[in-house]
Amino acid sequence: MGNFIEIKQFIKPFDKNIEVSSDKSISIRSVLLASQAIGKSRIYNLLQSEDVINSLNAIKKLGIKFKKFEKFYEINGFGINGYDTNKKITINAGNSGTLARLLLGLLINSKKQIKLIGDNSLSKRDFSRIVNPLQKFGANIFTKKNCLPVKISGTEFLRPINYNEKLGSAQCKSSVMLAALKTPGETIIKAKKSRDHTELLFKYLKIPIKISKTKNYDIIRVTGPSNFRGFEYKIPGDISSSSFFIVLALLSRNSKIRIRNVNVNNSRTGIIKILNKMNAKISIRNRKNYRGELLGDIFVKSKRNIKGINCPKSMNSSAIDEFLVIFLVAAKARGISTFKNLSELNKKESPRLEIAVKFLKKIGVKLIRKKDNIKIYGNPKLNLKGKYTIRNFRKDHRVFMMSCIAALSFGGSWRIEDKDSVKTSFPNFLKLLKKLGAEII
Ligand code: S3P
Repeated sequence: MGNFIEIKQFIKPFDKNIEVSSDKSISIRSVLLASQAIGKSRIYNLLQSEDVINSLNAIKKLGIKFKKFEKFYEINGFGINGYDTNKKITINAGNSGTLARLLLGLLINSKKQIKLIGDNSLSKRDFSRIVNPLQKFGANIFTKKNCLPVKISGTEFLRPINYNEKLGSAQCKSSVMLAALKTPGETIIKAKKSRDHTELLFKYLKIPIKISKTKNYDIIRVTGPSNFRGFEYKIPGDISSSSFFIVLALLSRNSKIRIRNVNVNNSRTGIIKILNKMNAKISIRNRKNYRGELLGDIFVKSKRNIKGINCPKSMNSSAIDEFLVIFLVAAKARGISTFKNLSELNKKESPRLEIAVKFLKKIGVKLIRKKDNIKIYGNPKLNLKGKYTIRNFRKDHRVFMMSCIAALSFGGSWRIEDKDSVKTSFPNFLKLLKKLGAEII
């Protein structure tokens, strides 16, 4: 069987309860933090995807033992100085920017040089954004033309830094927070708003952290060195994985979906806020607090009178992984939608703004792109009849999944390549679509 799928029919009306795969950001963070805790941690519902497996392999290479039980992983840490970095090793982060960047923060005190490599997509991404602040801590860290491989050898003489995170990147902010955990003194981060899972985990683990918030940025103070004890954590569903089903239900005929037990942290729910501004009426029910994170069930119904949006750029960070599917909704909306300052979208597993523009043009959607801004002319009657082949040249999981949603909700006959890419974040994606009745060959 080839590494592609074919879709030749709209999805029929569905009314289902589903659970999506566990949150990738929190899975990777909990593996890395458990690997630095003192004693045993138990992580329930850990996402079983390649990015997380690469995280487990990375801590194993650093001398940390873990065991898989039926319902949880048990990870045995030796504290913040517990990695075995006495020999030169190479760690492969695969496709995961989160793993690569957060781990570099934790290698700030490594004794021997560690080389970090990744797959073809990760090797094209920018690492200068993380090399610069980590150098300020005193680490020796080098890149090849700002990209992987990165070589890092830490220092015993770490010094705290003042860091201004201007990109709205949670990976950069978290990497610096993890380095601060090991560094004597107070590191102060002024960070443009981005997902705050690391902050919430630090608070839950009683790591000394102080946060003051203003409208556009947070000031985060972390005092190190600070050890913490092993912990238990149950990973909730991923809103980024939910987004494909949210949009499918919204754009399909007479359909309904309830997605249970999803992380609906305010810094991640940009997609719901954006779609609701477009008239979607998505609701979150059964909200509860879990270890500082907000969880809930997401309810979505098909909607005919979706309207265009002038999307405030302050929402970019909280919807950053969801723009590909948000653009699909804009394509079917009544009126024009505008999205601005999306340069970070081109810094992902593939240049997603470029890819979205090509994709939308290919299916006949009128749009204007100027630099990092895009204007989409929606057409509520969008109904495709043609044949479309999607070649996913960087094997981007979210490009594959977005293409499937377009095929099932816009019609036409599709061949979509690189189905294996879903293993990065959402291995059950196609199975779940079939459960809703999608005909996928
Ligand atoms: C992530 C942060 C975001 C996001 C990525 C996961 C994280 O990246 O796109 O999928 O877990 O911290 P940036 O921090 O580069 O914006």
